[in-house]
Amino acid sequence: MTFLFNSDAKRGAIFTEAFARELPDIAFSMDPKSVEADAVRYLITWTVPDDLARYRNLEILFSIGAGIDQFRIDAVPASVKVVRMVEDGIIRMMQEYVTLAVLALHRDLPTYLDQQRRRTWQTIAPVQASDRRIGVLGLGMLGSAVIERLQPFGFPLCGWSRSPREIDGIRCLSGRDGLDTLLATTDILICLLPLTDETRGFLNAGLFARLPAGAALVHVGRGAQLDHQALVDALDTRHLSGAVVDVTEPEPLPEDHAFWNHPKILLTPHIASVTQAETGAAAVIGNIKRHQAGLDLIGLIDRSRGY
Ligand code: NDP
Ligand code: OXD
Repeated sequence: MTFLFNSDAKRGAIFTEAFARELPDIAFSMDPKSVEADAVRYLITWTVPDDLARYRNLEILFSIGAGIDQFRIDAVPASVKVVRMVEDGIIRMMQEYVTLAVLALHRDLPTYLDQQRRRTWQTIAPVQASDRRIGVLGLGMLGSAVIERLQPFGFPLCGWSRSPREIDGIRCLSGRDGLDTLLATTDILICLLPLTDETRGFLNAGLFARLPAGAALVHVGRGAQLDHQALVDALDTRHLSGAVVDVTEPEPLPEDHAFWNHPKILLTPHIASVTQAETGAAAVIGNIKRHQAGLDLIGLIDRSRGY
């Protein structure tokens, strides 16, 4: 029985050690060329290899990341379980990034950076955290963790999900009506939705128009959820005041793209959060042990929902 690791060698070395320690009966391989295809029961990867059909006895396809939209899931046999990454490191990094982004927007950092470049010394009237309303799209592993980390700052927090959720002290909304309410009462909107047929192009002109004037965006979901031109238009007409964008479509952006030099956009190259090797390996090993014991897998994808 073989576990095939298809990702970077640095993380692979840590996975190798963890597997040798925790699952010595499973052969661990980082080399698809030398592996005996029929022995491969588990595969971890970022994208699905073209020759997936080789692994006729594959039981679990693990994503090395939290998202699985990069998989062509319809091409994965229905008998194969698809599992996303659920691990503490990726949660902690997303909490850091979104806190950084929210505080940057809350304290007008894009404007002050632009003023610095133009040698302008000018203050902006500060807004108290208690008057800065935060709306989070997606209340899953990452959205709920981000809310927990933002809570001590005193921002009024509201979250939105597909099905109703309850989080202590947080206004949780769902469904179309819930979205209207959230958007109308949000000053900083955070997108942590998975990319599905329903969320593709979600952050568009119509959605931005439903936000109060002066609102800002933190986009850490997936690039294809954001209409780039709609964001630029909303910023240029001053309906939106700023944006922190970590994910785009395509990645990387072309050299002449409007986001590179836009004074109201802070752009990062899809680095908000990355799976950490030690905790990632522990999560995968834990899931294989659960699978072997006949227990439910953590992070199992529901194919009908697409996430
Ligand atoms: P989860 O699956 O744990 O949570 C997804 C949340 O989104 C759930 O609350 C779900 O609702 C909600 N949701 C899904 N579809 C809809 C919809 N159509 N309408 C309303 N709510 C919806 O995902 P994670 O929190 O683990 O990750 C979210 C995404 O973050 C990933 O899919 C990935 O794209 C992105 N990501 C980005 C990274 C980066 O570095 N920029 C790093 C890691 C992840 P419900 O609760 O009802 O199921
Ligand atoms: C992920 C990512 O999905 O890095 O983990 O985007």
